Amino acid sequence: MQPQDVIRRKRDRQVLTPAEIDFFVQGATDGSVSEGQIGAFLMATWLNGMTQPEITALTLSMRDSGRVVDWSDSGLPPERIIDKHSSGGVGDEKITLIVVPLAAACGVIVPNLSARGLDYCAGEHDMLDAVPGYDTTPTPERFMAAVKDVGGVIIGPTLDLAPADRKLFFVRDVTATVESVALITGSIMSKKLSSAPSGLVICVGSGSGAYMSTIEQARELATAMAEVGAGAGVPSVMLLTDLDCVLGTTVGNAVGVVETVDFLTGDERDPRVLELVLEIVAEMALMAGVVTDLDEGRALALARLEDGSGADRFGRMIAALGGPADFVRDPAGYLPGAAVSRAVLPVQAGFVAGMDAKEIGLSLVGLGGGRTRPDEAIDFGVGITHVAGVGARVGPDAPLCVVKARTEAEWETAAARIREAVRVVDAAPAPLGSTIRERLRRDP
Ligand code: URA
Repeated sequence: MQPQDVIRRKRDRQVLTPAEIDFFVQGATDGSVSEGQIGAFLMATWLNGMTQPEITALTLSMRDSGRVVDWSDSGLPPERIIDKHSSGGVGDEKITLIVVPLAAACGVIVPNLSARGLDYCAGEHDMLDAVPGYDTTPTPERFMAAVKDVGGVIIGPTLDLAPADRKLFFVRDVTATVESVALITGSIMSKKLSSAPSGLVICVGSGSGAYMSTIEQARELATAMAEVGAGAGVPSVMLLTDLDCVLGTTVGNAVGVVETVDFLTGDERDPRVLELVLEIVAEMALMAGVVTDLDEGRALALARLEDGSGADRFGRMIAALGGPADFVRDPAGYLPGAAVSRAVLPVQAGFVAGMDAKEIGLSLVGLGGGRTRPDEAIDFGVGITHVAGVGARVGPDAPLCVVKARTEAEWETAAARIREAVRVVDAAPAPLGSTIRERLRRDP
């Protein structure tokens, strides 16, 4: 078998066998399949899709490209090991950074493998790479020791854990092949199954800021992931979320880490982020058996947020993986900044009625905060802050956002793109409803 045989069969809408998928995935991982061939395979899959058995085979092959963590000698109660993930959205990337330490503070054990930025969405892996000293690709032993010590930590895929995702991800990022149920399921679920949780809570967003445009597509993605989880013996809860506008107030890497710390310490809490965080942690706590119902879970999550133990766990996570021990006290002091930082004013005064969140995510890529080539270094310091949410009044004294850029020219380009992306109207629109639109539960 040659890599091009597999690509050709997918190009010609054939159903691939598990052996063909495994041949390709293992070749992508060990380098015998080239980046060009990976790109062609991804585009053929994006165009022609995969059946559920193919998606399952892809996921298991990606998981088995590396090791699966074995917690049996760790002394940790397996039923309390519950992980979370998000299928991605503009501004959504900070949710995992908030949830993992907060859930740990509630008694859930969270071994989390997260993602880099992908096309127009930033990613947790890049955000944590912005923290000096933090090791996002530790050995499995260091990862497990940190989970045991802190209760929850976030890393990326490594050479040992889901290495195939590292390879495919870099190519997906820059080849317009992200929005595929098969490829997202393989990427997310291979990472999730590598850390061997007893349950999963996954947010699946839809709207202009998400990879799935409609709730029907989000449901399809959620069902595919739940099916893979159930087949591997892992129950899941899928929260279908509305990501039609930027979630929270920042878009970017260092700025998202600062928003995370501000949220955990109580300096600033966006209400939509708060609602979602409490719901995810409540579901995780319920799955872990730490609480007996969701109301108790929400109350526990809020209590741990307000007593500062979520912030404390975040600080311990940073220190456990090599970052500064006092990071939480002054995150901005440790993170890179940007040469130009100025407010973007709207063309006309009024109220924000909606936005094309994808365009705002793409403006981060234009600023240098995302990649246009697989091997590109990104600038962690650029970003967008103080994003005016739907319903906010904007005008000469109330900006749309603040853009942090490397140069005046890049600031101007991003500002023009954001002004174009945000819809401003004369009268205040109806307030946004809940971020959570639907919930799917699936047992093995
Ligand atoms: N998160 C991931 O880990 N992978 C994707 O493909 C999308 C979001």
